Amino acid sequence: MSVRSTPTPRRVKRKDSNRFDPTPQVDLIIIHANELVTLDSRYGIPRVGKEMKNLAIIQDGAVAISGDYITFIGTSEELMTKIPSNKKTIIIDASNKLVTPSFIDPHTHIIFDGYRENELEMKLAGMSYLEILESGGGILKTVNATRKAPLTRLINNGRKILNKMMEYGTTTIETKSGYGLDTENEIKSLLAIKELNHDHPMDIVSTFLGAHTIPPEYKGKNDEYVEVIVSEMIPRIAKEELAEFCDVFCEEGIFSTEQTKKILLSALKYGIKPQIHIDEIVDTNGALLAAELNAVQVGHLLKSNDKGLEALKRSKTIATLLPGTPFCLMLKDFAPARKMIEMGIPIALATDLNPNCWTESMQMIIALACYHMKLSPAEALTAATINAACAIERQDEIGSIEVGKKADIVVFDVPNHNFLPYQFGVNLVSKVIKNGKVVVDFEKLPK
Ligand code: NIG
Ligand code: FE
Repeated sequence: MSVRSTPTPRRVKRKDSNRFDPTPQVDLIIIHANELVTLDSRYGIPRVGKEMKNLAIIQDGAVAISGDYITFIGTSEELMTKIPSNKKTIIIDASNKLVTPSFIDPHTHIIFDGYRENELEMKLAGMSYLEILESGGGILKTVNATRKAPLTRLINNGRKILNKMMEYGTTTIETKSGYGLDTENEIKSLLAIKELNHDHPMDIVSTFLGAHTIPPEYKGKNDEYVEVIVSEMIPRIAKEELAEFCDVFCEEGIFSTEQTKKILLSALKYGIKPQIHIDEIVDTNGALLAAELNAVQVGHLLKSNDKGLEALKRSKTIATLLPGTPFCLMLKDFAPARKMIEMGIPIALATDLNPNCWTESMQMIIALACYHMKLSPAEALTAATINAACAIERQDEIGSIEVGKKADIVVFDVPNHNFLPYQFGVNLVSKVIKNGKVVVDFEKLPK
């Protein structure tokens, strides 16, 4: 199965979503969906607390698409009476199938070279993530390989990952630099992201993560490296418009909360918005810092304390939970997702795809979220779609199936959303629609 490359999509400018003008030509219709998960925004953007379970499902649902956008949703009966199709209209019969907004993966690291499959044996022998890093493995091993890789190699590596992500139902991601750790190689990584965003049907939001770890040449001179990030990298990246967000790995022995603040405030001066890796291994009061800095999203939160969570609740920051990481690190504890939902903190899910935790599959992440963090299937689906859109500030365009939103939709070959975590470890996708075009079609495989 290959992902079909489409030309850069024509973007129809919308004046405002209440006055959407449907294009007369209906290009694509999905009809008879057993469950059409709309995630209607009337029930909250982001969805929090009890509303996370409310998928706003239409039974025997139908969708009409014109160009890149959704122009109608309703029951199949309503569609048949209201929406004229013609010979050119593509009709997808979704009988016995589940139709959802496509996945958004709001925290990934896809730009790297080399592998780290050898580290599994180290983990099995009891070495921790930071011990592997201190021994020159982990992020540093990937930095070494990524620095040596030409731009074209990083683009090709990234393309392979994007193809697989799309086959598994993801049509928008956030991804980061962070394995260059010097100006030239960080820029190279961001250029790879830019090129892929232009070339591939996946929509990609770009983040600068020069503060991923201390590069070997600055060992013991952490503040000097922070100075390079602030005075050299950020101004260049801003000038070349290579990143929308700036991220920092705020962790004991990596970047302190003070250094994190300095980096993110300096990025903000250039209009580059903050996000942070927080409280992954040690509680460094990351949640409190994130709320104070109005971070758009924060990742991990395995160890966040109650005061920090309270502060997050009062902020607009989205807590992006990454259960693939504790799974790959063989940790006993996952992020306290139930507690967060009960507190009303908006949560999203992401793969955190990186050479330590390599999965392209948001279906896998939904399964981990249910089995290890006790999310219900509906809560996990909400976190992987509309709430994930909020984590990258794309909630007005994607994340739900509503008139005026982009037609980014997945048809799953299962009867309902409970199957997403239930039938795990396999790809349940039947078709993926991106900007109104079918880009993945498993129905075309011989039966
Ligand atoms: O989010 N924790 C920091 N960064 C990544 C891992 C990067 C790596 O191990 O290569 C993460 O888990
Ligand atoms: Fe990460």
